[in-house]
Amino acid sequence: MIPTSIDEDFDLGEDQFHQLRDIIYEKSGIFFTDNKLYLLQNRLGNRLKDLGLSSFEEYIRYLRTQNGNMAEYHKIYNAVTINETYFFRFQAQLDAFQRKLLPNLVDQRRAINDRQLNIWSAASSSGEEVYTLAMILDEYLGSTLGNWNVQLLGTDISQRALNQAREATYTRNSFRGAITDLQKETYFEPIGNEFRLDGHIKSIPEFRYLNLNDNQEIGRLKKMDFIFCRNVLIYFDEVVKEKVLRSIYDVLSHGGYLFLGEAESLHGISSSFKVEYFPGAFAYKKD
Ligand SMILES: C[S@@+](CC[C@H](N)C(=O)[O-])C[C@H]1O[C@@H](n2cnc3c(N)ncnc32)[C@H](O)[C@@H]1O
Repeated sequence: MIPTSIDEDFDLGEDQFHQLRDIIYEKSGIFFTDNKLYLLQNRLGNRLKDLGLSSFEEYIRYLRTQNGNMAEYHKIYNAVTINETYFFRFQAQLDAFQRKLLPNLVDQRRAINDRQLNIWSAASSSGEEVYTLAMILDEYLGSTLGNWNVQLLGTDISQRALNQAREATYTRNSFRGAITDLQKETYFEPIGNEFRLDGHIKSIPEFRYLNLNDNQEIGRLKKMDFIFCRNVLIYFDEVVKEKVLRSIYDVLSHGGYLFLGEAESLHGISSSFKVEYFPGAFAYKKD
C-alpha cells in the first residue's frame, strides 16, 4: 500500500523539493516535475516520522550522510513508485507475442536443437506481468515446457513490489485485464478474498531488484529474446529514457523484441529498433 497520510508538521519548501528530487533522480532516474511537490511531501512524511526527524532539511542532510548505504533509498523507492499492474494487460500485444513471435522463436530454436528462452520484464512491479508470461508459456509449450531452459526474469526498483511478486497472492484488482475465467480457475486457488497462484507457475520466474538507471547492472544480464518494458518510461526524463533504451538495446539478442506499454512509443527516444505491426499492437525488433 502506498502511504497516504499527510503530516502537516512536515512542510516541503520549494528549495528542499528541488534538492530532494535531484537526489532521487541521480540515483534512480525517477524525475519529479514541479507539480509533484506535494506528492513527495505526502509520500515521504512518514519517513521523517520513523527516523525521528523534524524537517525535510534534516532528512536531506540525513540522506547526504548515507553515501553507499542504500537502505533509505529503498524506503524512498517503495514510497514513491506507483506499482499499478494487472494480469493480461494489453491483450493485443500479448496475442502478438503468444500467437506469432513466441511460436516463431520456438520453431527456430527447435530447428537448431537449442532449448534456451530468455524473457525479461524490466519493471515487473508485483508480478502480474511476469506470471502472465509464465501462463502464456505454459499454455503454448504445455508438457514440453520442462524440456526448455526458460529464464523468465522480473525486476523492479521497489523491494515492496518484488516481495508481493514472490508472495504471488492477489486480490480481485489484479484480475481486471483479459484473463479468462478458465485461466483464473486453472492457475489460481481462492483463499478468502484473495487468489493464490498455482505453485508450478509461481516456480517459473525469478524476481530480482534492478534499477533501470544502472546500465552496468543491465549489462550483466544474459542476452534476452524478449523484453517487456511497459509503463515505466513515464518515470524518466528524456536523458534517462535514452540511456535506459541504449542499455535495453544492448542486452536484447539480434532478432529479439522489445514491448512497451499500450500508450508508449520510442518516437524521439530511439531509432535503433525496427517497428513491426500486429493487429492492435506493435513491437520493436533488434535486427
Ligand atoms: C506502473 S508499474 C508497471 C508494471 C508493469 N510493467 C505493467 O505494465 O503492468 C511501473 C513500475 O516501474 C517501477 N520503476 C520505477 N522506476 C524504476 C527504475 N528506475 N528501475 C526499475 N523499476 C522502476 C516501479 O517500481 C513500478 O513497479
